Amino acid sequence: MSGENNMQRVIAIDGPSGSGKSTVAKELARRLSVLFIDTGAMFRALAFEADRRLIDPEEGQVLNAFLSDFKMDYGKSESELIVIDGVNLTEKIREHHISTLASVFSQLPSVRKYLLDFQRSLALDHVCVMEGRDIGTVVFPKAFAKFFVTASLEVRATRRLSQLQEKGDTRLSLDQVIADQQKRDESDMNRAVAPLKQADDAELIDTSGITLDEVIAKLELKCKELASTNGIKL
Ligand code: DC
Repeated sequence: MSGENNMQRVIAIDGPSGSGKSTVAKELARRLSVLFIDTGAMFRALAFEADRRLIDPEEGQVLNAFLSDFKMDYGKSESELIVIDGVNLTEKIREHHISTLASVFSQLPSVRKYLLDFQRSLALDHVCVMEGRDIGTVVFPKAFAKFFVTASLEVRATRRLSQLQEKGDTRLSLDQVIADQQKRDESDMNRAVAPLKQADDAELIDTSGITLDEVIAKLELKCKELASTNGIKL
């Protein structure tokens, strides 16, 4: 199948953090029996590794040298979702300070270009649900199904806080999570390259007032319809 056709066999789910998009995307992929691709995990892992190697994001040459000097593997299994140079980073990348680091590194054009190529290569041979910030706008503008999943700031911060607490991190208050979230939203939406925004042809899904189960059921139905009209075999 040609690259052009492959580009369309993607269900693109974008939206801000805490909107429920990861939960929705993962379960949707499971129900449709297609590959689930969490692009945020890639930005997080790349930022984690760059930080570990003391890479200064301001230093272009050093950054470029770094980008050609590691190997990223995605999706070996759920417990080995993201691996760099053989080291499984799946758990480590969920720590709170990595969110801030990932947001910093995700502003950089060379980092975005690197991960854009990586993301496109992963979808070549598979139908997939890919979630992120710019999947429907930049990575797969011709995706056959596009959703922009969002929720109010308070709802998103409350979800994020309970995720952290479930992992045993009880250091943060709701106010701190709201403030951090707001800062990340602003930088995600205002960055020069591939900012977070709804694609013109994406359906807006607000998860504030409904359960994620309801959202998943709705998207499952919609994707099956769209796949059938576009001749895509799920
Ligand atoms: O979805 P997440 O919170 O795991 O994403 C981590 C960071 O990576 C977040 O600051 C936004 C950024 N990101 C991005 O810029 N583009 C993507 N496609 C996915 C994530």
